[in-house]
Amino acid sequence: MSLIDAIRAKAKADVKRIALPEGDEPRTIKAAEILRAEGLAEPVLITPESIAADPQRLESYAAKLYELRKAKGLTEEAAARLAADPMYYGMLMVKMGDADGLVSGAVHSTGDMLRPALQVIKTAPGMKLVSSSFLVECANRSFGENGLLVYADCVVNPCPNAEELANIAVATSETAGKLCGITEPRVAMLSFSTKGSASHELVDKVREATEIARGLAPDLLIDGEMQLDAALVPEVAALKAKGSPVAGRANILIFPDLQSGNIGYKITQRLGGADCFAVLQGLASPCNDLSRGCSVEDIVNTVAATSAQA
Ligand code: ACO
Repeated sequence: MSLIDAIRAKAKADVKRIALPEGDEPRTIKAAEILRAEGLAEPVLITPESIAADPQRLESYAAKLYELRKAKGLTEEAAARLAADPMYYGMLMVKMGDADGLVSGAVHSTGDMLRPALQVIKTAPGMKLVSSSFLVECANRSFGENGLLVYADCVVNPCPNAEELANIAVATSETAGKLCGITEPRVAMLSFSTKGSASHELVDKVREATEIARGLAPDLLIDGEMQLDAALVPEVAALKAKGSPVAGRANILIFPDLQSGNIGYKITQRLGGADCFAVLQGLASPCNDLSRGCSVEDIVNTVAATSAQA
């Protein structure tokens, strides 16, 4: 069974209510029909009309938003205005327990979806940081977990420090287990250096992050710093990182920053022909972002993944 089939099966087994703030966008409307017909989720299409149809609910959402953000200077008037915006309304719907998760991004940019998610839904208890996992299915099954790899962070954090990078590594190993069924996450902390082959403050950051992650998750197989070839190719690992429990067999790749992570997944997708899709991790309830070029099928799959996370 492919990863997406497994995720769809998980979604079907426990149908969740997923808010779709771009509820008048044609691909989203079509996706909602498919989701309903296939029993993958209960989509909640949010439009300016649906918001106006229930003024009492809007009022209670505006009050909640004011309570959440007044310490940050949000006024009651501004809260009322923002709550009527479909993106904020969707986030508040999840926050109030009227939906189990949210998917958007067919129209909005990643930042326009992430900011309200961070402000309203906030991080899960015990989590300091929201980040993302990119689920990557390669045709070459010798890589990762039978061709499946998880990359992070390719979406959220532009310049993570060592502590944040360690948090991303641990959160990604948890997503790999929960969503992808990877029972033995093997985490490579990527760099342009392998085990001291180069020295630079950027390399020091990755080395420090590896140590912090070991402290956070002592049972996790994690190693670094290492180059991509040392992480994936056993022959290179034998030369450059002998004795590493991860090198040559990594199934999780942690990139040192957002530039390398975002470029890395796009190279894998465009030149390598791999199937890739992202989920956010660390939020108190699942919210996921689409690419503006997404197809109806991409929306269906992302909603299914959001349901499975919920
Ligand atoms: N985890 C948890 N909380 C966070 C995080 C995070 N990673 N980042 C910001 N926050 C919090 C802030 O502390 C702040 O909280 P507060 O308002 O309660 O104090 C709130 O979120 C908003 O933060 P801002 O500083 O106002 O927002 P910022 O301008 O930092 O934007 C964002 C955050 C949107 C995540 C930004 O870092 C960003 O744009 N990231 C890149 C997104 C992107 O363009 N990705 C690439 C394309 S995606 C693709 O190709 C698939």
